[in-house]
Amino acid sequence: MTGSWTLCLIVALLAPMGPTAQDSPASATPPMGWNSWNHFAEKVTEADVRAAADALVASGMRDAGYVYVNIDDTWEGKRDAQGIIHTNEKFPDMKALADYVHSKGLKLGIYSSPGPKTCAGYEGSYSHEEQDARTYANWGIDYLKYDQCSFGDMIKRQAGSDLDRAAAMQRAAYEKMHLAILKAGRPMVYSFCQYGLYGVWRWAPEAGGNLWRTTDDIKDTWDRMTLIGFQQDGLEKFAGPGHWNDPDMLEVGNGGMKRSEYEVHMSLWAMLSAPLLAGNDLSKMSPETKAILMNRDVIALDQDALGRQGRRIWVEGPMEIWVKELSGGKTAVAFFNRGESTMNFDPNLSALDLKGKHLLDLWTKKELVLDGSAGIRVPKHGVLLLEQR
Ligand code: GLA
Repeated sequence: MTGSWTLCLIVALLAPMGPTAQDSPASATPPMGWNSWNHFAEKVTEADVRAAADALVASGMRDAGYVYVNIDDTWEGKRDAQGIIHTNEKFPDMKALADYVHSKGLKLGIYSSPGPKTCAGYEGSYSHEEQDARTYANWGIDYLKYDQCSFGDMIKRQAGSDLDRAAAMQRAAYEKMHLAILKAGRPMVYSFCQYGLYGVWRWAPEAGGNLWRTTDDIKDTWDRMTLIGFQQDGLEKFAGPGHWNDPDMLEVGNGGMKRSEYEVHMSLWAMLSAPLLAGNDLSKMSPETKAILMNRDVIALDQDALGRQGRRIWVEGPMEIWVKELSGGKTAVAFFNRGESTMNFDPNLSALDLKGKHLLDLWTKKELVLDGSAGIRVPKHGVLLLEQR
């Protein structure tokens, strides 16, 4: 045997034999769609979900790429004598709802927990994983968000301060549902939601995750959104086609932030190759909200085929510069101003190789060429988002 064959054999033997995200379908680019939680929370009903599906089509969002209609927590009813999960009275017929959503050219997502109870106290999938995955497949579900919730208490009880045991329990629980989905035989995007615990980005793809939350929940505030978004730096090496860091769902249109702040939110999520899951009431969108959510250039930046998550290359107090490599050898650059007044970025930033290049401002659609003579002025809580053309 030659040296290189020996090496190949060793590499093959050392390679993880478990399930991988590549066994799962879709999500070659970050998933896009809508999720019920940020706006409707525990009140969501089937009528709200149908209205969201209608609005995705009528607004043009579906055609812009938002195809997943994801029901979050509180759809769950009781289990019957055979242990099969049923919906509660808010969702009288999940199969009919899936058929409706599919008839619109959309996909349906659902939510559960590896614990016995979900975060809102509804029925989780603990010890019913295969049964639940089969039920979801029978209904026609295309996406599962699997939320830690009460499983965290089980870990605490059983692993105590043994971190390795805790991490192993955590991973095993997510892997179990991945295998259950594979066995059920219907492709589903598999979304981990355990708030970034145990360095989830390091093991989630091998455990079958197509995306994984990296933090605790977002809120519709500037402080929370920026805290979560800007802390993604460093995680870029873990993202790529089929497996994405998830800094949580969008708050655009929920009313807690100003227009420029929502533009920062959308720009940052696009630079991060984050899933774009709108979290607002789609049936009541202002033109401003539509313009932000449906900015085709910003969506294209998020969905770039190379799948390279952007990273911070420069910081000076509240001023940050992030770059993202794009397919075709191009680059996008974002100048973020997290501060409380308009700021000028230094026009001669040596870290940037964009001088003389043709750039498009993805929000104003103006073309510009940076010549190094004028400062780059960004208003407070604002962004200048540029892409090489
Ligand atoms: C957790 C998740 C949220 C949402 C709620 C539902 O807090 O992080 O995204 O799913 O549970 O109860």
